[in-house]
Amino acid sequence: MGLVTTKEMFEKSMREHFAIGAFNVNNMEIVQAVLDAAKEENSPVILQASSSAIKYARINYLMKMVEAGIEDTNVPVAIHLDHGPDFETCKMCIDAGFTSVMIDGSKYSFEENVALTKKVVDYAHERGVVVEAELGKLAGIEDDVNVSSSDAMYTDPDEAREFVERTGCDSLAIAIGTSHGAYKFKGEAKLRFDILQKVKEKLPNTPIVLHGASTVIAELVETCNKYGGNIPGAKGVPDEMLKEASEKGVSKINVDTDLRLAMTSEIRKVLAEEPEVFDPRKYLTPARDKIKETVKHKMRDVFGSSGKA
Ligand code: G3H
Ligand code: 13P
Ligand code: ZN
Repeated sequence: MGLVTTKEMFEKSMREHFAIGAFNVNNMEIVQAVLDAAKEENSPVILQASSSAIKYARINYLMKMVEAGIEDTNVPVAIHLDHGPDFETCKMCIDAGFTSVMIDGSKYSFEENVALTKKVVDYAHERGVVVEAELGKLAGIEDDVNVSSSDAMYTDPDEAREFVERTGCDSLAIAIGTSHGAYKFKGEAKLRFDILQKVKEKLPNTPIVLHGASTVIAELVETCNKYGGNIPGAKGVPDEMLKEASEKGVSKINVDTDLRLAMTSEIRKVLAEEPEVFDPRKYLTPARDKIKETVKHKMRDVFGSSGKA
């Protein structure tokens, strides 16, 4: 099976009330771990790269790795630009063979966001590529823009409908209380499921996307800290809330932080416990295994996408 857009996987997710994991990739080990997990779980999957990941890995390397990875992976796989900052970056990815792009105009005014998104949609649709857009602001760090918690702006359901109608975007990322990175909540985790429900009422056929949705898995944070890391008080979205979101109309759940934690915790552990090691394969193999285990857990126990390929 070649690369696909997210169209059919999202239609199935809305029909059958499950979510598809979108995992951030920026090197070979992460690409392999995510694709192996999808294959073993018989799950559709989205690999996504941010503009800074593309700068790091280089777009041709990313595309070739993904193409190599899907050769023996008989599940639907989409390759998606995460948080496209401008039209040019979206165009570059579409021209390079990405099957889906996100244009993140959430930092602009409503009208500017509509105009920019529409421009990307027109270019993408002519080439068979789908577009994710964003309305509302997530707290935390979003690309280069640092949005403080007090500025966090939930998505307005009425605006969401107008936005989708006017732009023709294929899916919409909404703000219901999640944020990027390892520090999502100061007190108790809280998501605005009431807003999600209202958005779904206004847009029953539009796939909804949840960014900033890592669990910040406690065991991984503990391992990092135990072996020399310094990420105290990290906190994410509990699995039960993500499960609820998957069942209540979220079609795509973005995960980057948990993969970073999985990889770093294993590397730290090997280097601390076996100081004589200097062969990268000795720490990258368990790191890759840990990412795979983490992704499989999400597909099977949280998002409900296992067996849905
Ligand atoms: O939402 C942002 C993603 O976690 C990507 O982060 O720009 O550091 O690659 P990055
Ligand atoms: P996390 O930082 O919660 O993993 O979110 C990732 C994300 O939203 C990528 O777009
Ligand atoms: Zn994001």
